[in-house]
Amino acid sequence: MAQQTPTLLLFSLQLTIFLTIIHTGESSAKVPAVIVFGDSTVDAGNNNGISTMLKSNFMPYGRDFEGGKPTGRFSNGRVPGDFISEAFGCKPAVPAYLDASFTIKDFATGVVFASAGTGYDNATSDVLSVIPLWKELDYFKDYQTKLRAYLGPQKADETLTEALYLVSVGTNDFLENYFLNPRSSSRFGTIAQYEDHLVGLADKFVSELHGLGARKISLGGIPPMGCLPLERNRNGLRGGACVEEYNNVAKEFNGKLAGLVVRLNNRLPGIKVVFSNPYDELLNIIQNPSQFGFENVAVSCCASGMFEMGYMCNRFNPFTCTDANKYVFWDSFHPTERTNALLSEYVVKDCLAQFL
Ligand SMILES: *[C@@H]1O[C@H](CO)[C@@H](O)[C@H](O)[C@H]1NC(C)=O
Repeated sequence: MAQQTPTLLLFSLQLTIFLTIIHTGESSAKVPAVIVFGDSTVDAGNNNGISTMLKSNFMPYGRDFEGGKPTGRFSNGRVPGDFISEAFGCKPAVPAYLDASFTIKDFATGVVFASAGTGYDNATSDVLSVIPLWKELDYFKDYQTKLRAYLGPQKADETLTEALYLVSVGTNDFLENYFLNPRSSSRFGTIAQYEDHLVGLADKFVSELHGLGARKISLGGIPPMGCLPLERNRNGLRGGACVEEYNNVAKEFNGKLAGLVVRLNNRLPGIKVVFSNPYDELLNIIQNPSQFGFENVAVSCCASGMFEMGYMCNRFNPFTCTDANKYVFWDSFHPTERTNALLSEYVVKDCLAQFL
């Protein structure tokens, strides 16, 4: 007992130091800001004020978010951009650029330009009238002007250079566009040709971001999209099997994105792009849910769990589950906050650690 006391003391001292570091906030931050582009995997509410059907700023979305607030995030709580920001010592929830309750003071340490439903392809954002990726970049330029006015040009440029940029997009190009829209498939030919087209657009996007000053960039892979409840349940079988064809497309596309990341790092001076691929980890969770404490994987928490998202996942539906932590998916297309936390932890440890 007496021997253990020094250890215990040392441990509690370490804990105190650790907690102090957490509480001092800004001084422990590993990057000055986290800047997020992409789709509903990382949107924090940019769709709230635009005229699209694809929204989530109502209950039960956000019921496990701080204050039980439906912010427009497509989950019961936080999304990966929030967890990654927190892991980098920045704020625990990164605000949406179009949310009028925040100002440049808030955005100076992190901002989200993502829009649910968007894709690399302009035709994808057209499907549900959401913000196209090129327009997310326009908003970013607008942000830069405001940041320079707020911080002064020198500090602003330092922030823009040192910030961590997250890009998470691509699933909708397949699920919302290519597989559903005969015009896209006839225009772009085979799925392999469409993947190549998207990789070209990803190249253009990251190059433009680099041209605007970004240096530390995380390019996200796409998930095993054939296992999203919407796809599993599409043929009306509750809890059907994953659509292997879609998973194979995601794997193939991710392989091409990984190749792009190598080329970008070789081509663009001063850039450090990291490929953040959640595919394997999410598939691992989906195939071994109980190892992670999940009880439901083929159907989601919200409503019947088979096909609802957005307006169909609303507070009047009596079937919504009570404990989202038991589910891998929150609605038919989006992970629960717990899954988002697990995936973010994995991505930070396995992919983004070099930026820490
Ligand atoms: C997407 O639309 C924008 C705005 O109209 C345009 O500048 C851009 O070239 C388009 N991208 C492609 C690949 O057509």
